[in-house]
Amino acid sequence: MRRTITLWALSAAVAFAFVSHEASATGTDTRTDKPTDTTPQSPLGWTIATRGTAKGIPACISCHGAHGEGNAAAGFPRLAGAGEDYLDAQLAAFADGSRPSTVMQPFARLMSKEGRTAVARYFSRLPAPETARRTDTADAAPSDTGAWLATRGRGQQGLPACAQCHGPGGAGVGSAFPPLAGQPAAYITAQLHAWKTGKRPPGPMALMPNVASKLSDADIDAVARYYSEQPGEQPTQQASATTSAK
Ligand code: HEC
Ligand code: HEC
Repeated sequence: MRRTITLWALSAAVAFAFVSHEASATGTDTRTDKPTDTTPQSPLGWTIATRGTAKGIPACISCHGAHGEGNAAAGFPRLAGAGEDYLDAQLAAFADGSRPSTVMQPFARLMSKEGRTAVARYFSRLPAPETARRTDTADAAPSDTGAWLATRGRGQQGLPACAQCHGPGGAGVGSAFPPLAGQPAAYITAQLHAWKTGKRPPGPMALMPNVASKLSDADIDAVARYYSEQPGEQPTQQASATTSAK
């Protein structure tokens, strides 16, 4: 119990720092060094990402998408625009076995430390996918659990809004707080359950195990759907029929 309180004091400080940070920033993207798809890249990172390696690692983009945008149908996560240090740390965790994944562990183990860092840098410099959510739902109703948790959290449980750490619209903040916008719902759901059951390493200050422990299965499904979907207008053709019918 005492441990929980200390962690929450810490995380409240973190959340507060980001609220102040956001208040002074304009727009939805708080990163200033925002790269483009054509930013020159390290040849090693580019080669691993787009060609794979002779040791038998397939091109990362074969699963994570040509621009690192992820694959919603398969539940493969978006890598584009996540912090370099975050991606590097995840690859290290797959390699040392602390983050379980039957798919990623063997690939991470086949890469040198240098290779992991180079490919982490490659994906971190790609822009957020076009299809990712850009803004939060304004004036969420309490009955809209996903939007409410994302933008308000749940005060009586000491649960900050996801946006306080993950940024407006879940765009990600700096190197430590990865983007949620545009992540497949199945991926977000799996990660939150992994923290709930102690299967994913706690990460910085064990912030996410604390968050996940306060979410019911229904909360998890709702917030995963929120971040995986585009709000409001639909830029893709798929849903245009229903949009224009309204
Ligand atoms: C066969 C498909 C496949 C290939 C190829 C693949 N990945 Fe993955 N990757 C996955 C899956 C599935 C996950 C989700 C693992 C989990 O359940 O946590 C993942 C997760 C990740 C993550 C964690 C993302 C996050 O947001 O925490 C990183 C980083 C990553 N992969 C990097 C790479 C890199 C770099 C390569 C190329 C060397 C690569 N992947 C190749 C399927 C793949
Ligand atoms: C107090 C800060 C904080 C809050 C609030 C927070 N997160 Fe996180 N979240 C983090 C950190 C830090 C990480 C990176 C963990 C790591 O490095 O292993 C993370 C990672 C994640 C990931 C993994 C992303 C990936 O690419 O694998 C998911 C999913 C996630 N958070 C969902 C949520 C949701 C949903 C909420 C709101 C209900 C939320 N988070 C609220 C700090 C926070």
